Amino acid sequence: MSTTGFEFGGNAVTKLCGVRYPIFLAGMAAISGPKLVAAVANAGGMGTVGGLRLAPLALRRWIRETKELTDKPFGVNLVPSFGGPDVFEAQFQVVLQEKPRMLSLFYAENYPHMISRAKDAGMVVMVQVGSVELARRAIAQGADIITAQGSESGGHLNRGTIGLLSLLPSLISAADGRPVLAAGGITNRDDVRTVMNMGARGVLCGTAFVACDESNAHPLYKQKIVDATVDDTEYRTGYSFGWKYGTPHRVIPNRDKWNLLRHIGGGARVIDKPRMAQKLSLYAGQGVGKIDRVVSAAARVEELAMGLADDGEREAVERFEGVRLRYA
Ligand SMILES: Cc1cc2nc3c(=O)[nH]c(=O)nc-3n(C[C@H](O)[C@H](O)[C@H](O)COP(=O)(O)O)c2cc1C
Repeated sequence: MSTTGFEFGGNAVTKLCGVRYPIFLAGMAAISGPKLVAAVANAGGMGTVGGLRLAPLALRRWIRETKELTDKPFGVNLVPSFGGPDVFEAQFQVVLQEKPRMLSLFYAENYPHMISRAKDAGMVVMVQVGSVELARRAIAQGADIITAQGSESGGHLNRGTIGLLSLLPSLISAADGRPVLAAGGITNRDDVRTVMNMGARGVLCGTAFVACDESNAHPLYKQKIVDATVDDTEYRTGYSFGWKYGTPHRVIPNRDKWNLLRHIGGGARVIDKPRMAQKLSLYAGQGVGKIDRVVSAAARVEELAMGLADDGEREAVERFEGVRLRYA
């Protein structure tokens, strides 16, 4: 980091994950591919491969490609409820064999043994939830890190009715000393500072990393995020690609009334036709109004990390257990 002159490290999350900053890239299906994951990891954050929807062979390929691009730790995200137990088990086997540092889970409550299996294989397990009840279940199953997913979040919501300001303190109490990350609308240093002051041990960001050079998102999708204001996202429970009808998600809606694709929530990839990126309602969180350009993932990590420990922030940083400031 160029302007701080010191490094933040040593809280429970950075220790567990072996990373410099407790800044997590959300494992976003199709969007968080090897290039983005490695870029975040190389910049000192925790990159996470979006494993959802990947066939086992493709998942293995993405993990191996990521390993070629970075020697830093990274994670893999799976959504156990998606595709059913057989699909999940096949993906899970790949993860058990490849052993990334972290397994990140979403909609995980009906698969109790996978957390202990992942931990037995040496992985750290993070579970993202949007309610105290779901957090308690994840903790009972052995989760090491809980992510509080506020209703501001882009993409799918695991419940998704509680704003981060209320959810985060409740999950910190429920987590019984386990580290809690904050997610939903976090895009810059001020956001990071705010949630760290509330007791979060780190942040998890999706939308801010969609709008990065290395993400797999279609350029038109990135531009929509840059152009959007805070008024422009919507909470929906209609259809989104492959998910059970009614699963809540947040999108920048397409209001083109002539196009059927506008009813579908999705995340257009660089390989999709421009029409897809123009017509889909695109996954994005309420932080869009604070994203004004597409930047490199390293620049995004650096901006977020400024909220952990820039010059006026030593006091806040020092409040955290085990914190260590090392002056360069
Ligand atoms: C394009 C996109 C795709 C996502 N895909 C996944 C996914 O595959 N698995 C998952 O656990 N969460 C997924 N999420 C949700 C994120 O994990 C996280 O909750 C969210 O991005 C946080 O809010 P933010 O987008 O405002 O930063 C996705 C989010 C976005 C924006």
